[in-house]
Amino acid sequence: MRADMRTQVGIVGAGPAGLLLSHLLAQRGIDSVLVESRSREYCEARQRAGVLEAGSVALLREAGLGARLDREGIEHGGIYLQFDGQRRHLDFRDLTGRTVTVYAQTEVVKDLIARRLADGGVIEFGVTAPEIADLDSHRPVLSYTDARGSRQELTCEVIVGCDGFHGMSRAAIPASALTIRERGYPYSWLGILAAVPPSTDELIYAYHERGFALHSLRSPLTSRLYLQVGRDEKIEEWPDERIWDELDRRFQLPGWTLHRGPVLDKGITPMRSFVAAPMRHGRLFLAGDAAHIVPPTGAKGLNLALADVAVLAPALDQLLHGDSSLAGAYSDTCLRRIWRSTHFSWWMTTMLHRKPGADDMETELQLAQLRYVTASRAAATSLAENYTGYPT
Ligand code: FAD
Ligand code: PHB
Repeated sequence: MRADMRTQVGIVGAGPAGLLLSHLLAQRGIDSVLVESRSREYCEARQRAGVLEAGSVALLREAGLGARLDREGIEHGGIYLQFDGQRRHLDFRDLTGRTVTVYAQTEVVKDLIARRLADGGVIEFGVTAPEIADLDSHRPVLSYTDARGSRQELTCEVIVGCDGFHGMSRAAIPASALTIRERGYPYSWLGILAAVPPSTDELIYAYHERGFALHSLRSPLTSRLYLQVGRDEKIEEWPDERIWDELDRRFQLPGWTLHRGPVLDKGITPMRSFVAAPMRHGRLFLAGDAAHIVPPTGAKGLNLALADVAVLAPALDQLLHGDSSLAGAYSDTCLRRIWRSTHFSWWMTTMLHRKPGADDMETELQLAQLRYVTASRAAATSLAENYTGYPT
């Protein structure tokens, strides 16, 4: 046991939230130690989000992380909504003057890890049994077993839980101190990454009687596609051929072809809206998916994680210098954006997915909403404003 380790900020979880936070703190001269249960290779390969709001792009650029993003990110000025056998374009540039950028979360994570290590940052990959203690004191302790099998005890001034929805940080807060708001959805997303050029110039969100489908992309040579499937389906039930056939059915349009290619990665993700508040208990702060998750239909989760830590870094800077005003406002400041994104993600999800057992009334209401959002400039602008994001 080594009881002599100290840092200003102990961070749990090397996802986008934890990594960006440690970088933003380092830029302010604050040292941190980041502990992560997975290996570096695993974190860099985990397939997740793809769409960055304009504000997230600006944030990464301002943090000095924009070089590869600017070279390889693909700017998108709109999306297609497909329903009623038609594909309608929503032009975000025209409606809001704003765009989004497709740059995979894997690449954001790779850039951040490379930068932290180049700057001498400490990331402990492959830790087990992390524990948080002495939360109510001014010196909370983060202990863990490192990848070499030694138990470590890290005395911190602040601990930040960035360990995702299934992490341990949120559970370190007494249940009586948290208010949980939660909604499950009766379906999941099956996602594939395929070595084939995208069959579309913009993302396609397709409403279909067999269920929702999304055509996204990762690069000029790689496509990312999703299918609504039943909540409890197993990936083993979905051989590649079955996935492509189902995607074909849901995207089908006369004169348009969905190109197929080798499937590089596939998985099924359940969908949930979840908000835990407040995002602080004593000297423990929560950020990103550790505090809140949204269904992926609005492309908001990664953006929320980045926005949380953009608010948290200056708040911790102040707190460590004896001023707790920004830290005191952290949770409420973030929750305003979180609830806006939670509403938008729920709205997009319920508009575009087929609920098992849905009756004709439900279907007609969804179609009426889709027709309105593509026919009315006011309604289209509202969608575009939410999708391209909120000011940071
Ligand atoms: P995570 O990325 O979950 O990182 C948490 C880290 O903590 C992980 O590295 C994990 O290994 C580690 N960890 C967990 N437990 C422990 C522990 N006990 N000790 C130490 N480390 C631990 N969002 C968007 O904005 N746009 C999109 O297009 C989009 N698409 C998505 C598509 C899919 C299929 C999925 C699943 C998600 C999508 N999201 C999207 C959501 C987005 O990926 C998440 O919101 C984002 O990863 C949150 O980042 P985070 O850093 O908070 O958490
Ligand atoms: C993705 O590219 O992974 C993606 C894009 C848009 C979404 C969700 C996921 O709404």
